[in-house]
Amino acid sequence: MAIRELDSMSANWLAQQVTWLQTQPALLQHGYQLRPATRADRDAILVLERYCFSPWLAFGRRHWHEQLRRQSRRVWLVLDGDQVLAYMALLPHGGWQQVSVTALAVHWQHRGQGLGALLLSLAELEARARGLGRIRLEVDCDNDTALRLYRRHGYVALCSIPDYYGVGRPGIRLEKRLPEMI
Ligand SMILES: CC(C)(COP(=O)(O)OP(=O)(O)OC[C@H]1O[C@@H](n2cnc3c(N)ncnc32)[C@H](O)[C@@H]1OP(=O)(O)O)[C@@H](O)C(=O)NCCC(=O)NCCS
Repeated sequence: MAIRELDSMSANWLAQQVTWLQTQPALLQHGYQLRPATRADRDAILVLERYCFSPWLAFGRRHWHEQLRRQSRRVWLVLDGDQVLAYMALLPHGGWQQVSVTALAVHWQHRGQGLGALLLSLAELEARARGLGRIRLEVDCDNDTALRLYRRHGYVALCSIPDYYGVGRPGIRLEKRLPEMI
């Protein structure tokens, strides 16, 4: 099922939340900017991706082209001027009632400053704006840093997926259920 498009009220609400996120210390202290990616950002995203993921795990040029082209996907960036410091790709899905985080990465020199956590908060806001009640993602079972981040933010393991990241490299599917909004 196609994703639920944002009506103008939800879009305004989300924009307000993004404005609020922009005032959080992880961004404000350094003057970093948070904004949705456009097709023009593809090459800058690819540069960061090359440093964060091995070639067999990276999306690559064609996949990012599709991510940025499709209305159904959302890609968010944290930037310092023109430099992409972090990205997060989301796939909201009305039928599954969830938002999937399909990619998340922070520049190695800017890790441990709360950018990963901030982008996860944004994934929750995207889900809420669409009335979707959970967030799911997959992570390499050896990726302790990412697993710690997700667990600290309330994600729980659902299952192990054999060979998800290649032969003998299982993935773990994690989920966070969002509390009902009153
Ligand atoms: C996983 C990843 C996205 C985390 O991003 P990050 O920006 O470093 O995440 P955060 O800064 O929010 O949190 C990381 C740690 O820094 C700490 N931290 C956050 N803000 C901090 C601050 N202002 N001062 C000190 N420590 C801080 C957090 O408590 C957390 O500690 P922990 O390791 O004990 O859990 C990043 O390591 C990354 O890009 N890794 C490579 C790609 C990858 O594996 N992606 C996930 C694939 S599923």
